[in-house]
Amino acid sequence: MTDTLLETAPLAVDEASADRLFRHARSTSQWTGAEVTDAQLQAAWDLAKLGPTAMNTLPLRLLVVRSPEAKQRLVEHMGGGNKAKVEAAPVSLVLAADPAFHEHLDELFPVYPGIREQLAPAAEVREQMARKNALLQAGYLIVALRAAGLAAGPMDGMDADGIDREFFAESGWRSLMVVNVGEADGEGSPHPRGPRLDLEQVSRTL
Ligand SMILES: Cc1cc2nc3c(=O)[nH]c(=O)nc-3n(C[C@H](O)[C@H](O)[C@H](O)COP(=O)(O)O)c2cc1C
Repeated sequence: MTDTLLETAPLAVDEASADRLFRHARSTSQWTGAEVTDAQLQAAWDLAKLGPTAMNTLPLRLLVVRSPEAKQRLVEHMGGGNKAKVEAAPVSLVLAADPAFHEHLDELFPVYPGIREQLAPAAEVREQMARKNALLQAGYLIVALRAAGLAAGPMDGMDADGIDREFFAESGWRSLMVVNVGEADGEGSPHPRGPRLDLEQVSRTL
């Protein structure tokens, strides 16, 4: 918002990458209509999965909503203007947290033998861990989608409980947000980029 007084250091990635991942990337709602391939989603996940999570828990789960029938089921649970945004997107991802993430920990975190059994009875702890770490992974995924040449439109204006009943009654996954995915048409948003807070506004140095 205000001009920073701090000098900006050079980046370790090239300018074009910084533009693609951050400077030119918008929360997108306008699409070219180009198809999103499974290979592109795979490429994005292969980056996003490497982002850090507590004890390497990786609790984020994805429901890829492609077919018109599945889209319609999802639209029913989206709020107001978000219904049309889901309908317009080539693919919508329901991002969810899996409170049963501990079942993978023998494989994912072998440096802590017994953690799977320790977490099994601690449902509330697992719920909190799943939510916190899956939300972190959602951030990694948005940037990874951009790295894979895609644009992302995250939205949480939705009936999360309704989505959980609709799609996750058996798995127990807990929906966090919907991310529309596709190729951005132009800037991808009808609104100009909003201002951001500067480092001096959001930090204290001790
Ligand atoms: C967790 C989350 C929830 C959001 N929910 C909605 C939403 O329900 N509807 C919507 O149109 N945009 C939603 N947005 C988009 C934000 O308004 C947008 O990311 C923000 O204004 C920054 O826009 P920019 O990326 O184009 O600069 C959401 C974004 C995030 C990260």
